[in-house]
Amino acid sequence: MTDAGLALADWFTAHRRDLPWREEAARLDPYRVLVSELMLQQTRVATAIPYFQRFVARFPDVRSLADAPEGDVMAAWKGLGYYSRARNLLEAAQAVVREHGGRLPEDFAALRRLPGVGDYTAGAVLSIAFGVATPAVDGNVLRVLARFAGLDGDVARPATRKRVADLSAALSPPGRAADFCEGLMELGATVCLPKTPDCGACPWSGACAAFAEGRTAELPVKRPKPPPERSERTALVVRDGAGRLLVEYRESGLLGGLWGFPEREAEDAFEARSGVRPDLAGARPAGVVEHVFTHRRWRMEVFACSVARAADTPDGPESRDDPPPRPPFRWVTEAEFEALPVSKAFQKVWSTARVFTGG
Ligand code: ADE
Repeated sequence: MTDAGLALADWFTAHRRDLPWREEAARLDPYRVLVSELMLQQTRVATAIPYFQRFVARFPDVRSLADAPEGDVMAAWKGLGYYSRARNLLEAAQAVVREHGGRLPEDFAALRRLPGVGDYTAGAVLSIAFGVATPAVDGNVLRVLARFAGLDGDVARPATRKRVADLSAALSPPGRAADFCEGLMELGATVCLPKTPDCGACPWSGACAAFAEGRTAELPVKRPKPPPERSERTALVVRDGAGRLLVEYRESGLLGGLWGFPEREAEDAFEARSGVRPDLAGARPAGVVEHVFTHRRWRMEVFACSVARAADTPDGPESRDDPPPRPPFRWVTEAEFEALPVSKAFQKVWSTARVFTGG
């Protein structure tokens, strides 16, 4: 079994792409492996490269990250999406300082307990940084090994994933856990492609069941994904008299850790929560924004409005000072807004509304 594993590790050594997290010093640094693997879970290699370089330049080790304000970490992640990864990474760094003296533990269960670290990430850190053979099964690895072994089971099923993980553990050659682990990922990313596998360039074509049986197009077996759930929403771009924008911080949920515009809710409830009464009667439609998350599709109607001038308050419109909004709301200038970590969905809202509101 490990002959095939060795062939893959050797192939990786000879053919690997030069990537910043593959420099020797980075591969030996569990922190850098953790950062790169978290980035790469939802992001293409080409996109992740500059983010990785900036991130580790800004936060070169676990301690510098653990000490950083959340806003700085989110800003460094801005544009990568799936921001819970950044929050988890920060919390993981803090846990590593608190509980492990600032060094990532060489232990599967302890790694697994860190926020945002699942079986895949723990396996990748152990294999790549510590050289401890541990399966790290992502979509690429599932495809490569399902083809190699001719597995017919749906790769979304835990039983199939378990077979793939066991196979990976059995194939990993002694002393070459890191090259084998990244070799599997690299083979999936560059040769054993979903639609156009380049079997002529594969170190495993002589041992691959799918290749021998002409079944590369059939494997891996995947159950079709349900379409993303649709959600109809309304975003409000509210400006105060000075032209500042009302923004809201999301503590948790899909956009946790990010700023965005408020969404319409019952008027009184919104005012009670924010301390701001938008002029909804005078709101102007600014356009429609669509944003697709992994499991959800948002369609947002965007409205632009100002703060309601309370003509009917006893003091009259001129004498009334707008109270500052209550947290998690805040007034920001446009320049301040641009510097905040804002989700893609609300960046789209801003592009739509700024044209309309002359921002
Ligand atoms: N995808 C996930 N991990 C990776 C890695 N270390 N190199 C390239 N692509 C990857």
